[in-house]
Amino acid sequence: MAPEDDEVMIDPWSSNQSTDYARIRDQFGLQSLSLARIRDPSMLHRRGIIFAHRDLDVILDTLDAGKPCGVLTGLMPSGKMHLGHSLVIEQLRWFQSQGADVTIAVADLEALATRGISLEEGRRVAIDEYICNYVALGLDPEKTSVYFQSRRPIVQRLGFQLGKKTNLSALESIYGFNGSSNLAHVQAPLIQAGDILHPMLDAYGGLRPIVVPVGVDQDPHIRLTRDLAQATNWFNVRERRGGGLVVGFSVQEENRKALGVGQDGRVDMERRREVFGALADALQKDGWADIRTNPKHGVLEIPAATSADRGSIRLLLLREERAMGGLGLMPPSSTYHRFAVGLTGDKMSSSKPETTIFLDDDNDTVKKRINNAFSGGRASLTEHRKHGGDPEIDVAFQYLNTFFEPNDQIIAETAASYRKGTLLTGELKKQCIDAAVSWLGNIRARRESLSDEVERLLAHDGS
Ligand code: TRP
Repeated sequence: MAPEDDEVMIDPWSSNQSTDYARIRDQFGLQSLSLARIRDPSMLHRRGIIFAHRDLDVILDTLDAGKPCGVLTGLMPSGKMHLGHSLVIEQLRWFQSQGADVTIAVADLEALATRGISLEEGRRVAIDEYICNYVALGLDPEKTSVYFQSRRPIVQRLGFQLGKKTNLSALESIYGFNGSSNLAHVQAPLIQAGDILHPMLDAYGGLRPIVVPVGVDQDPHIRLTRDLAQATNWFNVRERRGGGLVVGFSVQEENRKALGVGQDGRVDMERRREVFGALADALQKDGWADIRTNPKHGVLEIPAATSADRGSIRLLLLREERAMGGLGLMPPSSTYHRFAVGLTGDKMSSSKPETTIFLDDDNDTVKKRINNAFSGGRASLTEHRKHGGDPEIDVAFQYLNTFFEPNDQIIAETAASYRKGTLLTGELKKQCIDAAVSWLGNIRARRESLSDEVERLLAHDGS
C-alpha cells in the first residue's frame, strides 16, 4: 500500500518513527487516555507518556471488580535490553500491582524469521539480557509466566487457525508484504496473534480480558489480532432499533452445523431452538427477564439492555460459544506509550549505542553518554540565564521525566527552574546522571541478588 502524503505509515519492522502522537491517535482510531479514570495512576500515566489505548475501560472495570484479567507482552530476543524496553515492563509491573496476571512471550520464532537468530541463541539472549532485568525491574516471579513461541504448540496452532480468517492481500496491505516476502516472516504476525489470544484459553487461565501495552509501531499487530478474534466469534451484539440489544449469529464454515445451518443453506429449526434456548437460559441466569427469540431470523432480542451491558453480554456469549465448541476469543485491549527519545535527540536504537543506555552499562559510560546528550539549553551561559532552556527537547530532562525521577514535585520544579534559566544545562545533566546511576545501580544489585528467581518465571513447556 502506498502511503498517502498526509498519512503516517507504521511498520513494526521498520526503523522509521513518527512522533506526531495526536495524528497517530486520530489516524488509527485510538482512544485518549483519561487520567481521572485510573485509580492509583503510575508515573507513566501521570506524565502523559502512556497517551492512548483501545478498550482499556474493559480492563480497568475488570480490575476494579477484582475479577481475573491478564497482561501480556512479547520480547524480541535480539540485542541488549535498553531503557526504551523498560517502558513496557514498568506497565506490566503496574498492571500486576493492580491484580492482573502477567504472561511474557519470547518471540524466538519471530526473531528467527526476521533477524536470523537461531532458537538457541534466542533463548540465551532472552534469559540473560531481558528476563533477568524484568525481575530486577520488579515483576513478581510468582505471578509472571515466560514462555517461548517455539515451545508452546498451542500458540502456533492458534496462529494457524486464525490464519483462516485473513488472507494474503490483507497481510500485504497491513505489513507491506509482497510476492518475495519470506513465508516465515508472513507467519510471524499470526503467531503473535496466537501469543496475545492464547492466555484466554482454558488451559492458560481461561476467558478473561487481556491487555497488551505497546509502542505505536506495534499497533498493526493489535488491529490484526482484534480483527481475527472478532472474525472467529459465533455471536455478535448490536443496538436494537427502538432500544435494547440484539444478538445475532455469525455463521461460518466452522460453526454451520452447531448453529443449525445445513450444507444446502437450509435452517435446522430444531437445532436453532436449542441454541437459542441455551443463550436465553444463560441470559436469564444473568438476570435478564425479558428475552425475545426469533430462531427463524436468527436473532435474540434483549429490549431492556443498554450499551453499558454490552461487555458483560459479550462475555456471556463467548462462554456459550465455548460450550458449543467455538474458541470464544475476546479482542485484546491495548495501551500505547510514546517512544523515548534517543540521547542524541533522534531515534533510540540498540544498534546505535550512543542513542541509549543499556541496563548493564557502567557508570562511566552513563556519565559520558548523558554529558554528550542533546540539550535544550542556550548557546551561552548569559543567554541561558536570560531566556532559559527548553525542557521539552532536553534529553536529560526527558530521561528524568520518563525513567529516573519518580517524584512529581521534583520534576515540576526542575522544569520550572530550567525554563527560568536558574538551572543550567550542566547542572541538569548532573542531576540526570546522579539519578540514572542510582536507578541503574539499584537494578544491577537486584539483578545479582535475584538471579535465582529467573528460573521460576520460565514455563515448563517441554522442547
Ligand atoms: N513483535 C514484537 C517485537 O517486535 C514481539 C512480540 C511477539 C510481541 N509477540 C508479542 C509483542 C505479543 C507484544 C505482544 O518486539
